[in-house]
Amino acid sequence: MIIENQAQVTDAVLEAFGRTVDPRLRQILLSLAKHLHGFIRDVRLTEQEFQQATKLIAAMGQRTTPSHNEVVLMAGSLGVSSLVCLLNNGNNGQTETQANLLGPFWREDQPLVPSGANLVRSATPGPALVVSVQVEDGAGRPVEGAEVDVWHSSPEGLYENQDPGQAEMNLRGRFMTDAQGRFDFRSVKPAGYPVPIDGPVGALIKATGRHNYRPAHLHFMIFKPGFKTLISQIYVPDDPYIDSDVQFGVTRALIGDYVRHDEPNTALGVAAPWYALDQRFVLEPGEARRPQPPIRAKATEPPA
Ligand SMILES: [Fe+2]
Repeated sequence: MIIENQAQVTDAVLEAFGRTVDPRLRQILLSLAKHLHGFIRDVRLTEQEFQQATKLIAAMGQRTTPSHNEVVLMAGSLGVSSLVCLLNNGNNGQTETQANLLGPFWREDQPLVPSGANLVRSATPGPALVVSVQVEDGAGRPVEGAEVDVWHSSPEGLYENQDPGQAEMNLRGRFMTDAQGRFDFRSVKPAGYPVPIDGPVGALIKATGRHNYRPAHLHFMIFKPGFKTLISQIYVPDDPYIDSDVQFGVTRALIGDYVRHDEPNTALGVAAPWYALDQRFVLEPGEARRPQPPIRAKATEPPA
């Protein structure tokens, strides 16, 4: 069609996209055009602002490397990652879920270790953490033979792949659940950490007057055929940023019961203070599928 005025631009786009053969893609494109054009009308986007927007989007791509994904970081900073997660888990957004963001630091080659293993592979000062995990199905039956990846930051807020001072695979491991659906591990209490603010995400964070921290957490990924792979994070409640996560990841269901102990435990060989966490995970039925590893190289920037 020949466009006669601003309103008809949207009609022209809807008409063109309406010919998309794939029905799902057609649905997405039509809705995208309606909302995007509606947004531009709503804020009466100026030509200068439009140029700024295209520059920002280009910069997100340019800043993305094998060890850093600015686009994923921006999706998190806009709450989009969290929304997509919560819409697609917990019975499609109807019930509470333990699903959460993957984050950028899962490694697909984390070593398989026996229950009881200590994830500390090189000197990592900080309070000891003793974790006991139980994996169940929706009926409360133990899930045996689930592969559970665990990874987390150091008490200084750095993942091993960002920190030359940590050994390869420090604070990472993969466990198999036993007949009771359980495994235990030892580690150190993770700390929260800043996301990088030297790109478009930083511009957004500064403009909105936010801090750029994620609260401390443990990452888990639970893989067992017959169940939807559960990607989760268990947050540390005494973190000062627990209710203001820059990535909007913290949900009520994922605030962990980290119990502080102020006496040393000689049986466990831990000095005070140390922390214990007893964590239960419930798997939903669905497809077992591990995600693409978000990074494939040693990172050179702070984590997200
Ligand atoms: Fe993380």
